[in-house]
Amino acid sequence: MKQFDVPIKVRLTLWYSGILAVILIVFSSGVFIYFKNSLQQSIDVKLRSIAEVLSSSLTDIHSASVFGNFERYLENVLGRKPKGKFIQIMDRSGKIGAKMSDIEGEVVPTSFSAMEKALKGELSYETIEYAQPRLRIITVPIVEKNKVTSIVQVGTSLNDFDETMRRLFIIMIISIPTSIIVTIIVGYFMARKALKPVDQIRRTAVKISSTNLDETIDIGKRRDELGRLAETFNDMITRLRDAFHRVNQFSIDVSHELKTPLTILKGETEVALRRDKDKDEYRKTLLSNLEEIDRMTMIIDDLLMLSKSDSQEIKLSYEEVPVRDLIVDVCMDMKLFADTKGIELVVQELDDARLKGDELKLRRMLWNIIQNGIKYTHRGGKVEISSHVNDGYIWIDVKDNGVGIAEKDIKYIFDRFYRGDKSRKRESGSGLGLSISKWIAEAHKGIIEVKSKPAEGSLFTIKLPI
Ligand SMILES: Nc1ncnc2c1ncn2[C@@H]1O[C@H](COP(=O)(O)OP(=O)(O)O)[C@@H](O)[C@H]1O
Ligand SMILES: [Mg+2]
Repeated sequence: MKQFDVPIKVRLTLWYSGILAVILIVFSSGVFIYFKNSLQQSIDVKLRSIAEVLSSSLTDIHSASVFGNFERYLENVLGRKPKGKFIQIMDRSGKIGAKMSDIEGEVVPTSFSAMEKALKGELSYETIEYAQPRLRIITVPIVEKNKVTSIVQVGTSLNDFDETMRRLFIIMIISIPTSIIVTIIVGYFMARKALKPVDQIRRTAVKISSTNLDETIDIGKRRDELGRLAETFNDMITRLRDAFHRVNQFSIDVSHELKTPLTILKGETEVALRRDKDKDEYRKTLLSNLEEIDRMTMIIDDLLMLSKSDSQEIKLSYEEVPVRDLIVDVCMDMKLFADTKGIELVVQELDDARLKGDELKLRRMLWNIIQNGIKYTHRGGKVEISSHVNDGYIWIDVKDNGVGIAEKDIKYIFDRFYRGDKSRKRESGSGLGLSISKWIAEAHKGIIEVKSKPAEGSLFTIKLPI
């Protein structure tokens, strides 16, 4: 069974709504608790200030006159009628002397512990939870000559407080889930919108095959991560397309290159078979055929070598190669070819250096390049070879004053099967020599450079580390 993974847009949405929920809950609880405490504190402060005013004014006044008209007395002392409060004065035994109440509902009896504390001269606060409404009461002793004479109690209904806290709670209970739901919805759509190109990339990728490499991803002018991803993807498709075209072209070239000698072989064989010939004539045909077979064998060998080099299957053998001897040797081989073409092969000053490399391959490379110099130079021309050591490299120059290479051809001459237009007509060859030479130089961590002007000649420089 295929494992089901939660889509990124859902995961993203869940993550940030989760984080938002935690932040909102922590923050709101903090606000709620702080608000509740400070509201409670301000209630207590108000109760205490009333109680203290009363306790200090009551000490000197004769109780009886006060208790006669308690409400008026309170108005006088406090400056106004206390609203939403109840106030009572008791003697030491708890008997109520005067009492005023602006609270609906019954007023609860004084608690034992508050009485006890007051008699000791301490003030105390208490919250009466079971009263309807809830009450907050301060109990303050009135002290005369170091003796508690009576006790003042001021209480207030917690109705407003409870109502305020209830409203705050409702606001939070509604607004927190609402903002989380809004975040989830908005977040989901945003994530979906942001990730839309991913789906486009996927759909394009599905459509791509070796025969259909013209698909590209179009996600507009986005320059963000996904835009760059799409761009990278498009570049990759382009490279693949080029590679496929090259492979295709390569097959065409190979077929073409092999077809020519095969056509010649076929033609000559057919002619030979048409009527009886003497031994010598057959022999001549067979020799000519052998030449074509050699040519094909060479092309196939070259191709094999290049293909193997592509897949890194060729192991170079590393041995000490004396470069000067190698150059001299190759030039001796080439001398005959140069003579038949009427070209002067000049070996100039040669620096000697020992190179760690594959002698057979290096020979092949020199052979290709010197042969090219001779091939692409007119009768009476000159090919010069020289070498010098510099900077840890040996530089081998092969210079001719032949036909040169057209500007437009220069960047392609190292490509497989590439041959200059003129060369195709003038000389035999397969167009593989330089690609093989280039590969050999690079396998030895070197390079081949070329400078050339049409009708003036060419200079091939091989640079190899020693
Ligand atoms: N010394 C040179 N002078 C002029 N053109 C050259 C020279 N060397 C190479 N070229 C051009 O580069 C092409 C590729 O060379 P190469 O790979 O050796 O193939 P080939 O020699 O079989 O044609 C040649 O066809 C020719 O057009
Ligand atoms: Mg060649």
